Amino acid sequence: MKLSSNKVFDCSVVEIGKVHNKSGNITVVENGKNIPFNVKRIYYLYDVPSGEKRGGHAHYELEQYIIAASGSFDVTLDDGVNRRRISLNNPNHAIHIVPGLWRELDNFSSGSICMVLASEKYSEEDYIRDYKEFLKEKKNDTSLS
Ligand code: TYD
Repeated sequence: MKLSSNKVFDCSVVEIGKVHNKSGNITVVENGKNIPFNVKRIYYLYDVPSGEKRGGHAHYELEQYIIAASGSFDVTLDDGVNRRRISLNNPNHAIHIVPGLWRELDNFSSGSICMVLASEKYSEEDYIRDYKEFLKEKKNDTSLS
């Protein structure tokens, strides 16, 4: 599989609408309406011990929306040249992570929930878990400068 030439700047923080009334908020994500890919899988990270990191890999094909459904955490994106660190702490914000980027998640607040909307079913073949290998595959990509 070929690693995409995407850069960290191709990711964006998007605001998802919310329906507010006196009894609270609802935020809705619906395929074909307010997300740029079809969601095939949802998973969430919780009970992450203080000081722990998650992620530490890249994907060939997978696109994701990452949402702090509760609490806060930081997402670091890396394209082999540039790095971006983004804090998430609002359930109606999502980071849209495009394929081909290394990501790490850390600084989880107590009780936080990281919800991930994913464009593909789980496939270990879609992961690069070795950072050196990631850099090697990104270096083959001449569009990075
Ligand atoms: P991983 O994607 O490495 O987690 P993170 O990026 O949050 O650190 O997955 C951790 C483990 O969970 C790994 O053994 C694979 C398994 N897993 C599944 O079985 N299905 C899934 O959809 C996901 C996301 C992970």
